[in-house]
Amino acid sequence: NWTMAAYRDQAIAAIREQVGDKKVICGLSGGVDSSVTAILIHEAIGDQLTCIFVDHGLMRRNEADEVVSMFRNQYNIPLVHVDAADTFIGELEGVVDPEAKRKIIGRLFIETFEKEAAKIGGVEFLAQGTLYPDVIESVSFTGGPSVTIKSHHNVGGLPERMNMKLVEPLRELFKDEVRALGRELGLPEHFVGRHPFPGPGLAIRLPGGVTREKLDILRQADAIYLDEIRKAGLYDTIWQAFAVLLPVQTVGVMGDGRTYEAVCALRAVTSVDGMTADFYPFDMSFLGRAATRIINEVKGINRVVYDVTSKPPGTIEWE
Ligand code: XMP
Repeated sequence: NWTMAAYRDQAIAAIREQVGDKKVICGLSGGVDSSVTAILIHEAIGDQLTCIFVDHGLMRRNEADEVVSMFRNQYNIPLVHVDAADTFIGELEGVVDPEAKRKIIGRLFIETFEKEAAKIGGVEFLAQGTLYPDVIESVSFTGGPSVTIKSHHNVGGLPERMNMKLVEPLRELFKDEVRALGRELGLPEHFVGRHPFPGPGLAIRLPGGVTREKLDILRQADAIYLDEIRKAGLYDTIWQAFAVLLPVQTVGVMGDGRTYEAVCALRAVTSVDGMTADFYPFDMSFLGRAATRIINEVKGINRVVYDVTSKPPGTIEWE
């Protein structure tokens, strides 16, 4: 793609011009936007860039390891991997309210990030994967003009706190262009085409509260569901798909015995921008297959339901 090749060169020149010989830090989330931002900046200024990955322990299965090994081994980008799972999960214990969860995660994220940035020292620039829609849409992207439906946590709030200059090389791009740029920079297709994943991670897919045990059950169910979606060739058609582990136990029967375990809800939607969404009309045979595998393979789940709510009136995430 010649356009993206040209954009890449132009962006690299602009980053060099802006940053000079100063140090830059970039928060990695594991998603496409922050990854493309980091790789582009590293091409421009090399090891003047340090990435900080605050691992909150709320990622999907293998996700944290994949990001860390990709940055360290494939791209050789200096990366600080902060394992903060104990802190995050500890502070989330007993917290049920969705907004309270988001606030805790947002605060801990900023505190952890600041601490690591201070250790690096002498940093003048903070890199962010801000996209064009974020620039033009400064109101909450789920809420109307005056209602906040969900206080979205990304790295929002960091720039003001940290007193650093911003480097935002994706400010002119839309999501599909960021993906194209990612390909141009050598990111593997399966990474570039990943579904969006919310900043607060699996915490907002555990209504009723977060525990290590529930996280573990949810991760297993989620991995099986996504595996079945990939096998069915549906991954790229769907905007976002995930499992939610409900705080509801139901009675079941397995072999000769009675079970009393949790319900898992499956969600899949199509969307253009996440603002509105339609539930995905799976074949019943697909749903049956996914449900059977989850119930057979995941200890702790004995019932699976499918969410047929579109947005509006539902939101994509359950919390
Ligand atoms: P909702 O649930 O509001 O989600 O319909 C719309 C899109 O936003 C994602 N989402 C979040 N992303 N921080 C994020 O970075 C958040 O707190 C958050 N909440 C929802 C959601 O996954 C979907 O893609």
